[in-house]
Amino acid sequence: MSTAIPDPADGRTVTEQEIADIVAPDREIAVSVGEPLVVLDELTVTFGGLTALDHVSFEIRRGEILGLIGPNGAGKTTCFNAMTGVYKPSHGTVTMEGASLVGKKKHAITRAGVARTFQNIRLFGDMTALENVVVGLDARHRTSVPGAIFRTPRHVREERESIERGMALLEFVGIAGEATSPSRSLSYGSQRRLEIARALATEPKLLCLDEPAAGFNPAEKEELMTLIRQIRDDGYTVLLIEHDMKLVMGVTDRIVVLEFGRKIAEGAPKQIQEDPAVIAAYLGVEDDDDGVA
Ligand SMILES: Nc1ncnc2c1ncn2[C@@H]1O[C@H](COP(=O)(O)OP(=O)(O)OP(=O)(O)O)[C@@H](O)[C@H]1O
Ligand SMILES: [Mg+2]
Repeated sequence: MSTAIPDPADGRTVTEQEIADIVAPDREIAVSVGEPLVVLDELTVTFGGLTALDHVSFEIRRGEILGLIGPNGAGKTTCFNAMTGVYKPSHGTVTMEGASLVGKKKHAITRAGVARTFQNIRLFGDMTALENVVVGLDARHRTSVPGAIFRTPRHVREERESIERGMALLEFVGIAGEATSPSRSLSYGSQRRLEIARALATEPKLLCLDEPAAGFNPAEKEELMTLIRQIRDDGYTVLLIEHDMKLVMGVTDRIVVLEFGRKIAEGAPKQIQEDPAVIAAYLGVEDDDDGVA
């Protein structure tokens, strides 16, 4: 990552500290680390006769990186989908800071402070990297449609702020040099980073990452771990779905394990690594190279 980027507004350079201040203006959200931010209680999702998520309860604590792991089909993505308004749970609750997220529309959940990336990358391919991030920022804007058409001072100011913040986010995830490239021309790794920048643009309290390292080589995984730690250090709470055990064990504070839609374990990475039920369900099938068996 370079240390300074030109500010698109006036041509001067912006320091890393300024970038951090723009990316995470609400640092006080990190003050009460450890309190529950999001609570899932008995969350259940069914598809016809299949129970994809079966009375799953756990909490996501403010300021932590919580891993959500389990074999293929265990219900991890379904859990994200139930939390973000894609699927309606048939039973149970999801609350953030005491307010229910169940039954809210997707954009309302985004506004409430939950952002996610997707297992299969979803970007606007024809738009530039910067434009993809600005779309995320627009979720926060107040300008009316007439304001945008007539380019009122407020609209112009918001547009300028969007570009600055969008550039800061691209710098933060390490792809500022590709800001003006169409997102479909970016490398796979850069597209994954762009998805994270776009999610951060909505100023989430909770960032949910669905297999962000899928398809990465070991060096890219190492860089991603550093980025996820930086995101947490900037005051965000992170829920991470990831199959790579080295990455999960290296970056998370706690881990929840699902198998066949049920929670089978929860605890610190070391505890999880030694849990016989987890080893039997999941870790035991990995080879020794992952350093977990
Ligand atoms: N929209 C859907 N309709 C029907 N069944 C679904 C749907 N979405 C998920 N499922 C089923 O629910 C179960 C859980 O799927 P989910 O995608 O949540 O697993 P996962 O833990 O994310 O797995 P992976 O590691 O492969 O991504 C699977 O049996 C899957 O086939
Ligand atoms: Mg999945």
